Parts: sequence; structure tokens; C-alpha cells
Amino acid sequence: MAALQLPEDLRVRVREALAHGRLLAFTGAGISAESGVPTFRGPEGLWKNRRPEDLATPEAFRRDPEAVWEWYSWRRERVTRCRPNEAHLALARWALAGGLRVVTQNVDGLHDRALGLIREESGGLDGREEAPGESTARPPLPWEPGASLEDPVRLHGSLFRTRCTGCNVEEAYPYDEEEAGSPPPACPRCGALLRPAVVWFGEALRPSDIERSLEWASEAAVTLSIGTSALVFPASQVPLTTLAHGGTVIEINPTETPLSGRADFRLGAPAATAVPALLGSHPNPLPRLDRP
Ligand code: OAD
Repeated sequence: MAALQLPEDLRVRVREALAHGRLLAFTGAGISAESGVPTFRGPEGLWKNRRPEDLATPEAFRRDPEAVWEWYSWRRERVTRCRPNEAHLALARWALAGGLRVVTQNVDGLHDRALGLIREESGGLDGREEAPGESTARPPLPWEPGASLEDPVRLHGSLFRTRCTGCNVEEAYPYDEEEAGSPPPACPRCGALLRPAVVWFGEALRPSDIERSLEWASEAAVTLSIGTSALVFPASQVPLTTLAHGGTVIEINPTETPLSGRADFRLGAPAATAVPALLGSHPNPLPRLDRP
């Protein structure tokens, strides 16, 4: 594919936002499409031949926990075979450099795995060369201790976590090949069924997640809306909040969405091409940035 032509004004805004840690990446299923993860809407989408009310509601799980669990096992198995693409990796490099934050609607764990790969690639030092006498552990970044700002907000939860339908305890649920075809597991504490820790239709998002997302969106000088149909509320408020606070919104999506007419710029290209082209190469050694 020919190199993406980007207006200079766009490049300058993105560069400045990254330099000040004020870029927000808001992602949806389209960012993982080139990794082989199906999107929800569109001709090949997960909702093409399935009804959300049969698979993604609390009522569906009460009615038929086996069928719902089996669908989530299939999705876990499928995304486990996929790898983060150049878009996830470019975001992870800049997140670790402190240039940006990620709010995702995706439950596929590919942002997390990209962060893991970049950490591994950089020997746990986030790309900085080790000075003589410096410990091999990653030195604390300026905004540490506290919340790990490089981790994404997962607005719709994760395929790799469960929540107990009885005692509500949420915990990691790593994919296990043996699991295929087995019924939903029982909670080791109270014996009730474990459900996937994802947000289903008709359920509220975790208040702290949406609050943090909207706060980051209001602080962002630039928000990239990447690979989302921008149809699902309240996640769709993230780019609109940046606009309401005077920030710039750049949409990256081969297809137009309800956000297209409001975004300041639109890149009608696939994420794995457009995101690395827009962010450019990350600085090495990584800068120590001050967060706003
Ligand atoms: P959708 O399936 O609604 O939209 C995916 C978007 O990605 C579409 O606008 C595509 O045009 C775009 N797209 C496809 N390939 C792309 C590529 N290579 N690069 C960039 N963009 C591409 O997915 P979401 O917007 O994420 O909710 O859907 C939002 C929510 O609806 C999901 O989180 C899920 C779903 O029901 C829950 O499960 C709660």
C-alpha cells in the first residue's frame, strides 16, 4: 500500500499531543480486524447471524448458561490464536513512553498483549538503555507510584476475566485449551456460576471506568477514534467529550460513522497502516514526560 499522505497540520497536532502525554486512543473492534478478530457489525460481523439478546445479556445467561459460556469460550479460543498488529504495537510503544492513554471497548486483550510484547522486547526497561550501575528493574516513571497509566481502560470488560454471579468476585481467567466444550465453572468460594466479566446489553459500565475515560477525554489535546462504529452509548461519548473541551478528534476507519461529520480529521484507512503512520516512530531512549 502507498505511504499514507498526512496533512502537516495533523502531524503537528499529534506530535505535540504525544510530547505532552495528552493523546487519547479510543479503540473498537476495527483495530483488531487485521489481527483476525471479527468485528460486531458489518457483513462478516459477529452480530450478522447471532442475536445479542441470545448471547450477550444477563437474561440469556440465566436462561442458557451453557450456550452463552460456549460462545465466550469460542471467542477466547479464537483471540488467543491472534496476535496484536502494528496499530496495537504502535499504541503500546507510545503508552509506555507516556505519550498516550488507551480507552478500549474491546474485550480481546490485544492491547494488553501488545504492552507485554513491547515490555519484553525492551527487556523490561521500556526501551531505555541501562546506564552503568542502574538496576535492571524498570526505573519508576514520573507519574508512579499510583495508577499504572499505561494500562488501558477496558470499558466493556475482558474475555480473560470472570465474575461470580453469587459473590461478585472478579478475577483473571486465563485461556485453557482443555476448557473447550465444558460448562461454565463454579465459583471456588460460594459455588455459584462464574460468568464472563464483560458488559452485556442492558448492563451499566463500571462507574470508575466511564468516569476515568471521560476525564482522560476532556484532558486530551487529541483523541484518535480508531476502528469503532461509534454507535454504542456511553462509550460513544469519549470522542464527543474531547470535542466539547476544545480538543481535536481524528477518526481512523475505512467506513464513515456517525462521528465522521464531527471529527476534525478522517483517515479512511485501516488501523494497522494509519496508526503507525500517524504516531511515527517512538523516541528511544524514551522521554520522561510530565502528565497534565
Ligand atoms: P463494530 O463492529 O460496531 O464496528 C467496527 C468498526 O471498525 C466499523 O466501523 C468498521 O468500519 C471498522 N473497521 C473494520 N476494519 C477496520 C480496520 N482494519 N481498521 C480500522 N477500522 C476498521 O465494533 P465496535 O464499534 O467496537 O459491545 O462496537 C462497539 C460495541 O458494540 C462492542 O464493544 C460490543 C458491541 O456490541 C459489547 O459487547 C458491550
